[in-house]
Amino acid sequence: MTQPKMNIYILSINSRIYSTNRLYHEATKKGHNVRVVDHTRCAVLLGEAKPQIYLGSENITHGVDAIIPRIGTSVTRHGSAIVKQFEMNGAFTTAKSLGIIRSRNKLRTMQILARKRIPIPKTLFAKDTANIKEHIELLGGAPIIIKLQEGTQGLGVMIAESKKSAKSIIESLYNMNVNIILQEFIEEANGQDIRVYIVGNKIVASMMRSSTEEDFRSNVHRGGTTESVTLTAYEKKIAIHTSKVLGLPVCGVDIIRSKRGPLVIEANSSAGLEGIESHTNINVAGEIIKYLEKNVRRFGK
Ligand SMILES: Nc1ncnc2c1ncn2[C@@H]1O[C@H](COP(=O)(O)OP(=O)(O)O)[C@@H](O)[C@H]1O
Ligand SMILES: [Mg+2]
Repeated sequence: MTQPKMNIYILSINSRIYSTNRLYHEATKKGHNVRVVDHTRCAVLLGEAKPQIYLGSENITHGVDAIIPRIGTSVTRHGSAIVKQFEMNGAFTTAKSLGIIRSRNKLRTMQILARKRIPIPKTLFAKDTANIKEHIELLGGAPIIIKLQEGTQGLGVMIAESKKSAKSIIESLYNMNVNIILQEFIEEANGQDIRVYIVGNKIVASMMRSSTEEDFRSNVHRGGTTESVTLTAYEKKIAIHTSKVLGLPVCGVDIIRSKRGPLVIEANSSAGLEGIESHTNINVAGEIIKYLEKNVRRFGK
C-alpha cells in the first residue's frame, strides 16, 4: 500500500537556507505536498470559531498535517506564537512552542536540566551587583564564562580571564539590564564540544566541533572545524534525556567533556543540518521526514 501524502509547512524565512532546502527536498522526494511558509509574514485572527492563520492575505489555516518550525533567534517570540497556533489548530509539529521557548533561554534550559539532574557546568544567575566577587568564587574563581541568556552561534558567550575583568564586565551588563548567566569555565573541554542530533528522541548523528587556536568557542560560525566522535553510553543517555525533558523530540544537544564527565551546555530546536550532514553523510533531513510519517496521526500506523 502506498503511504498517504501529507501537507507539510516548513516555517522558515527563506527557502534557500540549506536546512530548509534539504527538508523541502526530502519531503518532496517522498511525494508530500510541502510549502515553505515565512512565519514572519504570518498573522493570526482570534475570535472566530477556529483561529485563522494568514500568510500575507492568503488564509493558510486548513489542511495542514504537520509543521517543521525553523525559527530564527531574532524572531522567537512571534515565531513560537505562530507555532503554538498551528499546534492548537491540530497540526503535528517537530518542535512545540514550549520546547522552542525553553531551549532559547540558556537560564531556563539550565534550570530544567538541573532539576532533572542532567550534568551541566556550574551556573549562577543574579541581578544585584553587590556580591559579584562572591559569585565568581562560587564558580571556582576566574576565568569564568559570561553568556547572554538568548545568544546563539557563539555570539554572546564571553570569557573573563581575571576576577577584575569578570567583575567589571558583569557589573556593566547588570547595569545595562542585559540578561546573563555566569558559568564555570571548563578549560579541559579544550575548545571542543559535541553536537548530538536527535530525531524522535533517538540519536541519528553526532560530531565533534573544535575551535580555532585563538578561540574557546567551537561554533562552526566562529570558524570551528568538525571531526568524528564516538559517544559514550552515558553521553548518549544524557543527550536523549535532555531532548525529553525540554520537550524537543527533534533537536541538537551540545555537550562538553569535563574532568568530572560530560556536561550539557545547550539544546537547539532549529539545529542546522549542513554541518552534520556534510560531516557524517547521514541523511538527517530524511530522518525528520520519516519521523513525521510515523507520527502524524492520520498517517501513523
Ligand atoms: N562553560 C563553558 N566552558 C568552556 N567552554 C564553553 C562553556 N560554555 C560554552 N563554551 C564554548 O562556547 C561555545 C558557545 O557556547 P554555547 O553555550 O553553546 O552558546 P551558543 O548558543 O552561542 O552556541 C560552546 O560551543 C563551547 O565551545
Ligand atoms: Mg552552542
